[in-house]
Amino acid sequence: MPTLRAALPDDWNRIARLLGDSGLPIEDLSADALDDFLVAENGSQLIGLIGLQRYDKVGLLRSLVVSRDACGIGIGARLVGALESAALMAGVAELWLLTIDAEAFFQKFDIVDRSAAPECIRATAEFSDLCPGDAYLMKKSLSVLSPI
Ligand SMILES: CC(C)(COP(=O)(O)OP(=O)(O)OC[C@H]1O[C@@H](n2cnc3c(N)ncnc32)[C@H](O)[C@@H]1OP(=O)(O)O)[C@@H](O)C(=O)NCCC(=O)NCCS
Repeated sequence: MPTLRAALPDDWNRIARLLGDSGLPIEDLSADALDDFLVAENGSQLIGLIGLQRYDKVGLLRSLVVSRDACGIGIGARLVGALESAALMAGVAELWLLTIDAEAFFQKFDIVDRSAAPECIRATAEFSDLCPGDAYLMKKSLSVLSPI
């Protein structure tokens, strides 16, 4: 059973490889900017990642990826659940995310128009630059905890 833990600077090379393999943005990340990131590990293998960018009560869920050979066994859902718990504990009340084609995975999130995004989300590199303009913008209230 894979374990989840906080990401560490030493994980950076493996994180960069995981993100690169799945085509997710890496340009605005670095080894010393992983404070609110979690990894999934199977022995010495890093097989999953998720990150949170916090702006007071608003959070951006980003960089969710599970390595192809570990997909479909619930690791993605566990990473989202763990991130939501951590975000709620940190005072985040609403979670936002951008996705090109995984919108159906985030069943408890609503698709919202880009014009509804708060300024702190608009100012992120993911929103303004790194994700294509037709990526889905999705939102979920964290006042009640529920799985993805
Ligand atoms: C999306 C992703 C993280 C899911 O991880 P996972 O560990 O396979 O997810 P889980 O095992 O918890 O859940 C699997 C379920 O999600 C569904 N699912 C997985 N990827 C999906 C996608 N892109 N779109 C819709 N549904 C998806 C599966 O069909 C499966 O459904 P089922 O349980 O009804 O059979 C993984 O497919 C991935 O890394 N994708 C590439 C990167 C990406 O798109 N990230 C999201 C950007 S925010």
